[in-house]
Amino acid sequence: MKAIEIRNKYLEFFKNHNHKVIPSAPLIPENDPSVLFTTAGMQPIVPYLLGAKHPEGTRLTDYQKCLRTNDIEEVGDNRHLTYFEMLGNWSLGDYFKEESIAMSYEFLTKVLGIPSEKISVTCFAGDEDCPRDTLTAECWRKAGIPNERIYFYGKDDNWWIAGEEGPCGPDTEMFYDTGKEPCSADCQPSCNCGKYVEIWNNVFMEYLKKDGKYTKLSQKNVDTGLGLERMAMLLQGKETPFDTEIFKPIMDKLESLAQKDDIASRRIVAEHLRASIMIVSDGGRPSNIDRGYILRRLIRRMTRHLNKLEIDLNKLDELIELDIETLKELYPELVEKKEVIKEVIVQEKDKFMKTLIRGEREFDKVVNRIKNEGKDTIDSNDIFKLYETYGFPPEVSKDLAVENGLKVNMDEVDKLFKEHQEKSRLGSEQKFKGGLSGTGEMQIKYHTATHLLNAALKQVVNKDVHQRGSNITEERMRFDFSCDHKLTDEEKKQAEDLVNKWIQEDLDVNIETMKKEEALKSGAECMFIEKYPDIVTVYSIGEISKELCGGPHVKHTKELGHFKIVKEEACSSGVRRIKAILE
Ligand code: SER
Repeated sequence: MKAIEIRNKYLEFFKNHNHKVIPSAPLIPENDPSVLFTTAGMQPIVPYLLGAKHPEGTRLTDYQKCLRTNDIEEVGDNRHLTYFEMLGNWSLGDYFKEESIAMSYEFLTKVLGIPSEKISVTCFAGDEDCPRDTLTAECWRKAGIPNERIYFYGKDDNWWIAGEEGPCGPDTEMFYDTGKEPCSADCQPSCNCGKYVEIWNNVFMEYLKKDGKYTKLSQKNVDTGLGLERMAMLLQGKETPFDTEIFKPIMDKLESLAQKDDIASRRIVAEHLRASIMIVSDGGRPSNIDRGYILRRLIRRMTRHLNKLEIDLNKLDELIELDIETLKELYPELVEKKEVIKEVIVQEKDKFMKTLIRGEREFDKVVNRIKNEGKDTIDSNDIFKLYETYGFPPEVSKDLAVENGLKVNMDEVDKLFKEHQEKSRLGSEQKFKGGLSGTGEMQIKYHTATHLLNAALKQVVNKDVHQRGSNITEERMRFDFSCDHKLTDEEKKQAEDLVNKWIQEDLDVNIETMKKEEALKSGAECMFIEKYPDIVTVYSIGEISKELCGGPHVKHTKELGHFKIVKEEACSSGVRRIKAILE
C-alpha cells in the first residue's frame, strides 16, 4: 500500500468515526519560540488538550509534518529519518481508552489488513504517580490480543510527554512483528534488535505535569500518532523507508548519477534533501542560529555527501525537481513553491561548496602530513585553523578524519572553539541586547540572583539540589528546587550570606555560545535539556556557577545590591520554594 493510500484510508476511517479532518500545521510552529520545529501531531493541539474549545469539536484527525533532529548523525543507517509524517487522531474529553483501542485495532486489522498475530501491545505498569493501566490491557484482550502479546512497562517506555512539562499520560504502543528471529529468549517489543517495530502510540492524556508534579486535567484526552513512512515500509515488506515509493525515485537517481557506490551517503543525501525541501517550503531559511542553523547543517551535510558520491553538483536542481515530483501527491503545495525551494537550497550549496572545496584540499594536505609523520591522530589546532582560515566546519573535519582512519580529540577541539567564542563574546552580548526589550532592569537582576542562589544551595544544602522552576517579577523572585527537607534557619542564613558574599566580590558574568553536548560536558547545568536548541548560550558567574540559559543577566554581581530570603516553604513532594528579594 502506498503512503498516500495509507494516509487517505486513515483520515477516511476517522472521518467515518465522527472525527473532523483538520489541516497539518506548518513544520515551523507558529507563535511558539520554545521549540524549533513541530515534532509531534499533538503540538499544535496542546491548548485544546488543556481544555480550550476547538472550533471543530471534540474528535479530530490529521496528518502532521514533523521534524526531529536529535538523531541527525544517525541518518544514513537503515531507519533514521529527520523529517517524517505523523498521522493522528484526538479525543478532547470525548472517547477514552475503550473506544480508542477498539478503533486502532479495527484500523490496523480491517483497514490495513495486518494479521492480528503480528500485533503486540504495551501498557503502563504503574508507579506512584499513576496506577497500573489494567483497563487498557483489558480493552486489548477484548479487541482480540491475547495476554502473551500484552506487555507492561514503566514510565521510560509507556508514558508520553512533549518535553518536561505539559499534558501527558500513560500510553499504549502497538508493535509489528517483522517475523525476524528473536534476538534472545527474552526478546520483547522494548528490544531494539529490529524484530518488533513500533507502529502506533495512543496516549491517554489525563494528566498535567507542572513543577515536577502531576495533577489531573479537567478532561480525559486521547492523543495518537502513527508514523507514515514506517507504516508504508512495513506494509510493502521493505527493509528500510528508502526502499518505498516515497524515496525510491531519488535513491535510484542518486545511484545512477554517482561515481562512487556508498549507500549511507545516498541515504543521507535523500533524507537531508527531503527535510530541507520541507523546511524551506514552510518558510525556513539557512542562518547561523536555531532553526536556520539546523537547515544549514542539513544542506551542508547533503552537499558534502553529494560531493563524496562524485555527483555533479549542478544536478542539485534536477534532484530537487525530482523529489518534489515524487512528493507532490502527498504535498501538492510544494509545486508552486518549487522555484523558491530550488533557489534557497542551491544558493546555500554554492556558498558551502567554495568552503568545502578549499577546505577539503587543505584537509588533504594535513592528512598527508600526519601520515608522513607516522601519526594516527589529527591535531585539534589543525581543525581549528581550517575553520578560522577557510570557514571549514569542525563537524565536517571530524567526519573526514574518521573517513581517513584518523582519530580526533573533539573535546580539545571544543576547547579551542570555546576560547574563540569567548573572544567574540562582546559581539554576542551586543546582539543579545537587541532582544531584550520588555525585560526590566530588576528582572534581569533577579534572574542573576536565581543562578547565585542555585549555586549557594548546592554548597550549603548538598550538591544534589537542582532547580525545578522559577518565577520572577519586578518585585521579587521565586525559586523552586529539589530538596528532601525543610531548610533550617541556619541553612537559610548560610545560603543568604553566601549569595551576598558573591555579590560583594563583584564577580564577572560571562556568556558563551556553544554546542549543547559541549556545554553539558563542560559541567554546565540546566533544567530541561530537551528544551534547548543544539547551539546554546551558557552563563557563568566567576567560578561559582555555570548554567545553560537564554539570559539576560547583569554583567557584574555587585549590581544586585543586597539579597534577602523572605520565605521558605514546601512546593510539592521533594520540592521546596524560596521567595527572596533584592534590596
Ligand atoms: N504524541 C505521541 C507521540 O508523538 C502520540 O502522537 O508519539
